[in-house]
Amino acid sequence: MPKDKKPFRSAHWYSKMDKDGFIHRSWMKNQGFPDHAFDGRPIVGICNTWSELTPCNSHLREIAEYVKRGVWEAGGFPLEFPVMSLGETQMRPTAMLFRNLVSMDVEESIRANPIDGVVLLGGCDKTTPAQLMGACSVNLPAMVISSGPMLNGKHCGSDIGSGTDVWKFSEKVRAGEMSQAEFMRAESGMSRSKGTCMTMGTASTMACIVEALGMSLPENGTLPAVDSRRFAMAHMTGRRMVELIKEDVKPSNIMTRTAFENAVKINAAIGGSTNAVVHLLAIAGRLGLDFNLQDFDDIGAKIPCIVDLMPSGKYLMEDLHYAGGVPAVMNKMHDRLDFNAMSVSGYTIGENISDAKCYNDEVIRNIDTPLREAAGIAVLKGNLCPKGAIIKPSAATPELLVHTGKAVVFENIEDYKARVDDANLDVNPEDILVLKGCGPRGYPGMPEVGNMALPRKILEQGVFDMVRISDARMSGTAYGTVILHVAPEADAGGPLAVVKNGDLISLNVPSRELKLHISDQELDQRLAGWVAPVQQYKRGYYKLYIDTVMQADQGADLDFLVGNSTAKVTRESH
Ligand code: FES
Repeated sequence: MPKDKKPFRSAHWYSKMDKDGFIHRSWMKNQGFPDHAFDGRPIVGICNTWSELTPCNSHLREIAEYVKRGVWEAGGFPLEFPVMSLGETQMRPTAMLFRNLVSMDVEESIRANPIDGVVLLGGCDKTTPAQLMGACSVNLPAMVISSGPMLNGKHCGSDIGSGTDVWKFSEKVRAGEMSQAEFMRAESGMSRSKGTCMTMGTASTMACIVEALGMSLPENGTLPAVDSRRFAMAHMTGRRMVELIKEDVKPSNIMTRTAFENAVKINAAIGGSTNAVVHLLAIAGRLGLDFNLQDFDDIGAKIPCIVDLMPSGKYLMEDLHYAGGVPAVMNKMHDRLDFNAMSVSGYTIGENISDAKCYNDEVIRNIDTPLREAAGIAVLKGNLCPKGAIIKPSAATPELLVHTGKAVVFENIEDYKARVDDANLDVNPEDILVLKGCGPRGYPGMPEVGNMALPRKILEQGVFDMVRISDARMSGTAYGTVILHVAPEADAGGPLAVVKNGDLISLNVPSRELKLHISDQELDQRLAGWVAPVQQYKRGYYKLYIDTVMQADQGADLDFLVGNSTAKVTRESH
């Protein structure tokens, strides 16, 4: 290290020639690292959410090896470390319950260790936002390399998409239109390679958003997981990470308000997941940015969806990548994005995509012939959701976007499951299904049950969409006229808690209104008589979460995690 250069953070561990330096170096040498690994070079942490219980991230150990190649090549020293992983399809009661826990793991693992910057390896839905949240709270240089999507699913000669076709097939089986044997065959054809869901679900959405935010190299959002170019990108990410540390470019330098505005617009243009709302709000909260729920509507609602991918359209992530990926999408959006925003590549977003081409105008449409006009998230307000609720109009039935119906209320998920297919359930296609008790506190963890399956007697009438309202989230691969993230949630005493069977509810998306048709006096009386449910979770992380989680309109982060503690640790360990 030249004398005129400021030492890297890791030098506080490894440059000491005393007892402490001996301890820090000596034990690391038991892994076969040579003396020169500790000569003051940048140390790159590789934060890995690999797990066999997170199938979408199961190849991240392999990806990490390519990151290491790049780090060594650039004169850095890579050190891989695990953090808790979140397998969306495996964890109960919901992976979202643990997003904030992983963010704490990431934050403290980075801060406590001799790391100068970090490459974040995530993919499955919650792993990406959790890693970004933690990294933002430390604010050391960071880059993301994502798992990448699975190859397109195949079944009976057709492409099938993760999640989206599960919901479709499941409804068909319930309606008697698909056999159980065919359902089982589709199960094998859907997940044909390593990687994340290959629809525009939450994982793909967040990977594309990472690219839009400028936190990864271009094309990270769409390159298939098994494409050799993803491994080359991992190599280049490792190499670039060493430079980023030398340049001291931090997440707060990249993820500015402008970057978030670009991300909101890209989310609309790609038909991205509603889950991006809670994740971007939580990440912005860690950075202390002035960015709120209404921004999604103000900034993104008028942006057209130009990417024809499931669940809003028909193609899949492989198709999007071969059509040109996020760079081509950005290029087609022209002046709707701020191309001056910086990225971790060392170039602006505009410079990154200056020569991007679109190779398939059906997959990435032109801005004047979009898949859907005004496709961003709509933020609803009204006496049923004083702190807001959201809907993704591009995934909804257009005729239902202005609708009044009678509430059919389910008090919690168990009540819903017990009665939804009951032949005696009093429900008609024009009614509105209302589900309570599925918010951050209530479930706990705000699961993806908001796109509740329709009652069998409705499906048997050939009706496949109804207005549905809940304090839950929905899978990014799901679709329908589904109002989500109602805040405050029922278990926090929001008006949702006191909706009764037969109440009239009006949805008016163009005027952004969600209204419960009872008088203010009646609503006040019902709320005054509401009794909070007895809390059954009395210890451990569940208790911490329930006691401190914020509502969906604030990103459902834990209240004491908002903000940044920097990378400083003042005391030695011995
Ligand atoms: Fe992991 Fe969809 S379940 S990405």
